[in-house]
Amino acid sequence: MSLAACRLVDLPRVADPRGNLTFIEAEEHVPFPIRRVYYLYDVPGGETRGGHAHRELEQLIIAASGSFEVVLSDGLTQARFLLNRSYVGVYIPRMVWRELVNFSSGSVCLVLASTHYDEADYFRDFDEFRSAVLS
Ligand code: TYD
Repeated sequence: MSLAACRLVDLPRVADPRGNLTFIEAEEHVPFPIRRVYYLYDVPGGETRGGHAHRELEQLIIAASGSFEVVLSDGLTQARFLLNRSYVGVYIPRMVWRELVNFSSGSVCLVLASTHYDEADYFRDFDEFRSAVLS
């Protein structure tokens, strides 16, 4: 069920010869109130980020610049999304394991999150996550 809810989200684009603009409104373009924004940058070639799931957190992940892949798992099945447009994000509900791989040079991974940072919300061990989600 959680994996089925993962989806690409097309964000609004205001095309302009001076440079394009994309905006995101909480509970309009993402189905949650945005309580936190963070971004990954200067990711060295070959590095992997993520490697966790969350008990409650929902996120929208966007390649604000460059590209990378988001590999998702519900403990049984995997789904893979390539993000390479500044106006497309992937929505990830609670209880989905995520890995971020294959970052292009200079890419920026922008994350909109539904909760403040809380280490207690994380599953950082895949087997523990798998047991919890399948129980
Ligand atoms: P983590 O969520 O594991 O990073 P990623 O999923 O992008 O690979 O977080 C890495 C470290 O940064 C960890 O020590 C916690 C810290 N951190 C915060 O302090 N606040 C935050 O909002 C986030 C996302 C991480």
